[in-house]
Amino acid sequence: MSTRPRTVLLTGASGVVGRSILRESRGLPGGGGGDGGPGALRLVAASHSTAVPEAPGPTVSLDMTADWFGLGADAWEALAAEVDVVIHSAGLTEWGLPAERYRPINIDGTRRIIEFAERAGAAVHFMSTAFVAALADTAPAPLGADNVCRNYISSKQAAEDLLADSGIPHTVFRPTNLVGDSTTGWTSQGQIVQLMSDWIGRGRAPFIPAHPGIRMDFVPQDLLSGAVLRAIELGDDKGDFWVTYGEEAMDVDGCLQVLARHAAARGRTLRIPPVVDPDGIDQEELERLPPMSRSYLAVLRDVSEVTWCSGGVLPTSMPELRERYGVPNVDDTEAYLRSLAYAAAHLS
Ligand SMILES: NC(=O)c1ccc[n+]([C@@H]2O[C@H](COP(=O)([O-])OP(=O)(O)OC[C@H]3O[C@@H](n4cnc5c(N)ncnc54)[C@H](OP(=O)(O)O)[C@@H]3O)[C@@H](O)[C@H]2O)c1
Repeated sequence: MSTRPRTVLLTGASGVVGRSILRESRGLPGGGGGDGGPGALRLVAASHSTAVPEAPGPTVSLDMTADWFGLGADAWEALAAEVDVVIHSAGLTEWGLPAERYRPINIDGTRRIIEFAERAGAAVHFMSTAFVAALADTAPAPLGADNVCRNYISSKQAAEDLLADSGIPHTVFRPTNLVGDSTTGWTSQGQIVQLMSDWIGRGRAPFIPAHPGIRMDFVPQDLLSGAVLRAIELGDDKGDFWVTYGEEAMDVDGCLQVLARHAAARGRTLRIPPVVDPDGIDQEELERLPPMSRSYLAVLRDVSEVTWCSGGVLPTSMPELRERYGVPNVDDTEAYLRSLAYAAAHLS
């Protein structure tokens, strides 16, 4: 084995996933700074314009939408000469945007990562999304053309296809919606799950639009981060992994029970709203609601549709992730509760 550290370029280092990976890297030999003996990992944290507080070593500003990542050819070549492995986590993650907004970052950016990895002789570990299951040929129902997640998911699928066609060594990690750290609930920023949970937990949702029998699949972010780092430590450079709970995930009632427990811990009583099949929603009742409620309900409906089109239960690689990468066996309801508590204390 080489005695020099292996240099890992982490794109999207300032994002939710990137910052979680950097925090997890503190547990590696040498703390992700490379000074941990033969084969230790040395992380280079790349963001676009945001500082990366957890970076254990060098940082670099890259623009996925620009040739040479906006570095110029010489600096790009120098970076390629340094890098052994890429974790590609940069992306446009907001939902509801036109398809052309995702292309430059999520698709063309991945094409640039492939060119870079080819030059560097590096394997790529790509952060995709479990929601691509809704677009699979085997999907039991077609995803609505106007689903709020559709353009985002399509861009992630297109990026996966580029990697598959490139022939470069790579893995694909497909996380479902991530929540805070499994032990502490920590997250660097609130996301859609926390936002929607807060709204429902305050009793503002008149009903919950959810397709019959779907699971609410939320995974603590450190489970993803730990698996990615372990894959790199082991030198794995192929495979795709659904970072989801699948059949183990809570159902909608279970999710609402967690919200009720969270409310109770804050001295509130949550009257659990009825769960309504989206096909049975009374449109007149919907029209009478305030615009914000209508838009939150529309997002809940569309996310439910994504799971419904994935078969109601997302595909999962959790047993394999536990066995091969030592991903801890964490109860999803307890992790969700801790995540809600962290968000209530630190993010609102
Ligand atoms: N978080 C989740 O629940 C979740 C679930 C499933 C899949 N994923 C996937 O995991 C990946 C990371 O998600 P995330 O939640 O960490 O995203 P995020 O919090 O939105 O962070 C996005 C990252 O991408 C960077 N970025 C954006 N535009 C860029 C550009 N033009 N050039 C270079 N970097 C750019 C941002 O840098 P700046 O901060 O400097 O702009 C930031 O570091 C995404 O690809 C997403 O599809 C995330």
